[in-house]
Amino acid sequence: MNRYKPLWALVLILLVTSCAKSNEEAERAEMGGAGNCNTTNMSYATDIAPILQANCYACHSNANQSISGISLEGHSNLKKVADDGRLIGVITHAAGYPPMPQIGPKLSDCNINKIKSWVNSGSPNN
Ligand code: HEC
Repeated sequence: MNRYKPLWALVLILLVTSCAKSNEEAERAEMGGAGNCNTTNMSYATDIAPILQANCYACHSNANQSISGISLEGHSNLKKVADDGRLIGVITHAAGYPPMPQIGPKLSDCNINKIKSWVNSGSPNN
């Protein structure tokens, strides 16, 4: 077994570096690098709700709204804060709005641009 030690070390290094690489690629795609961020014809159901679910529902789902005092789950709830400017205000960390997510990093530029595009098209229930 001992004489295979260097081999195992190599396998481990390869595993770690390949994981790091794919994370980097995912991040680049997410950031919209290389033109990978599609912001046209955004759909509430397939593009916008999943971003909210992943980043906001911990405090803003119907079940968790007691944490924040406001539910953003479902189109009609989200549309209220989309149409009065609060949604874009909080995710872009604009002055006068509480920066969101309240805990954790700002949304990626790609996700912010997707939400902006959806709001600019009238926050449709599509
Ligand atoms: C860790 C909990 C938490 C997370 C995650 C979170 N929020 Fe909040 N959010 C709060 C709390 C608490 C408040 C109310 C406190 C305040 O207004 O400062 C709030 C308030 C808001 C408001 C109302 C602001 C206003 O001025 O009336 C909006 C809109 C909002 N959040 C959007 C979001 C969005 C969009 C996300 C995800 C990108 C998000 N939040 C993620 C805790 C959270």
